[in-house]
Amino acid sequence: MKRLAVFSLFFIASLLIAEPLTQEQMIQKGTEVSTTLVQKLGNELKTQMQTGGPIAALHFCSQNALSLTDQVAKESGTAIKRVSIQNRNPVNAATFEEKAILNQWQAMLKNSETLPAYQLTKLSNGHTVYYKPIVINKDACLKCHGDIAGDSPLAKAIKETYPEDQATGYKMGDLRGMIVVAF
Ligand code: HEC
Repeated sequence: MKRLAVFSLFFIASLLIAEPLTQEQMIQKGTEVSTTLVQKLGNELKTQMQTGGPIAALHFCSQNALSLTDQVAKESGTAIKRVSIQNRNPVNAATFEEKAILNQWQAMLKNSETLPAYQLTKLSNGHTVYYKPIVINKDACLKCHGDIAGDSPLAKAIKETYPEDQATGYKMGDLRGMIVVAF
């Protein structure tokens, strides 16, 4: 019992004095966590598209994308979100600072420049954030984010679930948004 108490004390103390992550560690962790999230969402999406088609997959995403994201965040001890300027889910709207980065990347694409794999930025509040571009890189993305016929059942389902949807009209290679990982 006493040993347990001493151990607990050390454990709590080590948490309190834990060294902040180095830049290298943040890059490594950010890359790891964002890859996990993309894989997790991608696998679910693929399964749902194959078994139920785009409308079922749409409903699955609207009900589970955020909780799957939270799960990855919890497991990694970070905060993660996906944001976009042309967002579908209002929760995923980019902030002012995030828009500035997305606009910068948008301009790079326009100039046929290659996007960085990630960007690490120290915010004015002292926190460092890892950003990773999300590009439309699969035909499957266009099913729900491309040109969708206005009178199709899918268009209706999108409109019902997301009356403010802005996330259609994308083409292959377009910047769709980014993953934001905060430490
Ligand atoms: C079955 C339809 C469907 C497909 C296919 C699909 N998405 Fe989405 N997407 C959604 C829905 C619904 C949301 C909103 C719910 C959420 O994920 O938070 C969304 C949201 C997003 C967001 C978050 C920003 C926002 O607009 O809310 C990104 C980024 C995104 N999708 C990228 C992609 C990419 C990249 C692909 C291809 C790999 C893809 N999506 C394929 C339906 C789809």
